[in-house]
Amino acid sequence: MIPLSVPHIAGNEWQYIKECLDTEWVSSAGKYVDLFEQQVAKLAGSKFAIACVNGTAALQVALEVAGLKPDEEVIVPTLTFIASVNAVRYNRAEPIFFDCDDYYCLNIDKIIEFIRQETIFKHGASFNRKTGKRIRALVAVHVFGNAVNLEPLLELCHERGILVVEDAAESIGTVYRGGKLDGKATGVVGDIGFYSFNGNKIITTGGGGMIVTNNSEYAERARYLTTQAKDDEVRYIHHNIGYNYRLTNIQAALGVAQLEKLGEYIERKRTNYQYFKQAIDQIPGLHLAEVPPYCEPNYWFYNLQIDKDIYGRDREELLALFTAEKIQVRPVWYLNHWQKPYVKNQTYKIEKAIQLFEKTLNIPCSVNLTTEQRTKVIEVLKNGQR
Ligand SMILES: Cc1ncc(COP(=O)(O)O)c(C=O)c1O
Repeated sequence: MIPLSVPHIAGNEWQYIKECLDTEWVSSAGKYVDLFEQQVAKLAGSKFAIACVNGTAALQVALEVAGLKPDEEVIVPTLTFIASVNAVRYNRAEPIFFDCDDYYCLNIDKIIEFIRQETIFKHGASFNRKTGKRIRALVAVHVFGNAVNLEPLLELCHERGILVVEDAAESIGTVYRGGKLDGKATGVVGDIGFYSFNGNKIITTGGGGMIVTNNSEYAERARYLTTQAKDDEVRYIHHNIGYNYRLTNIQAALGVAQLEKLGEYIERKRTNYQYFKQAIDQIPGLHLAEVPPYCEPNYWFYNLQIDKDIYGRDREELLALFTAEKIQVRPVWYLNHWQKPYVKNQTYKIEKAIQLFEKTLNIPCSVNLTTEQRTKVIEVLKNGQR
């Protein structure tokens, strides 16, 4: 069996976790939680980092501290994992779904057009012409490790009172190249962002997330809300409804060890990407999606694109072929504006996301993918031609 994306544990994980067990610092406080926060902040270049139980909780809290209110609206991509959208609903707000570009990330031109033509700006805020509701934020999801092309949008969002919340769940280590954002990490170019350390991510804590921001008020509020909103820790006084969303020391110990390897893991993923790109692009009807020219991605996932008329098989047939060969591949997520909880929500000119959904399969991309496994994937693709 060749899995799609699994963790690679090959460094100081055992040593650091053993230390937690030996010292009995196993819960939501301890040296590794602090260390993990400091190290992620350093890597991201953010002033603050707040460890969370997972990325979904991190986004829920990020939206809340950014000021999202019930009945307001949030711009989101349709092509993303559903957690990016559900977190909007946890805040009792509504998503408006947008299209993607060639790199599977938000189509910035369509958002700029929408903000200019479909919203009314008054009292420092933008209101949706159609619903009259305030559009409070945009969730910029850096899908598959590719950065959203945020530079052309940041100023407009700022002028129009729309907060930029970055879902960098999949893109830790991705850095912008060129332009005004040159050298900046995804997650910290907007108002607030987060990373996920779920088991399928490039580095993992088993389950975990991290909010990053340069805004001290947001950071303080996020720390307060994720730790049960304690206004007096001794007497148990709470002025707000908080959450038990803190990461444990054991998970953070795993994270610290994994973070030590991030550079090496990105390098391995880049090498595997280049191997696949070269081999796949030679097979008629197949193509491995490019990465954006304006960033150095972390190469988290690889998108195989199938032209069924030339290749002779469509996405579903190829999926069945890989499954028979015990190779795990996946279509990209079923689009969110088609999901039952969201079918009634507003959408704006969604075209590309449908095309990419129909023709894309994610192929194995684990850090520890072997040469034999890579060769096997290509063999299946070559033999699958009709
Ligand atoms: C784009 C995106 N957003 C949000 C999440 C949620 O993160 P988590 O699984 O840590 O809750 C994930 C990953 O799982 C993701 O891929």
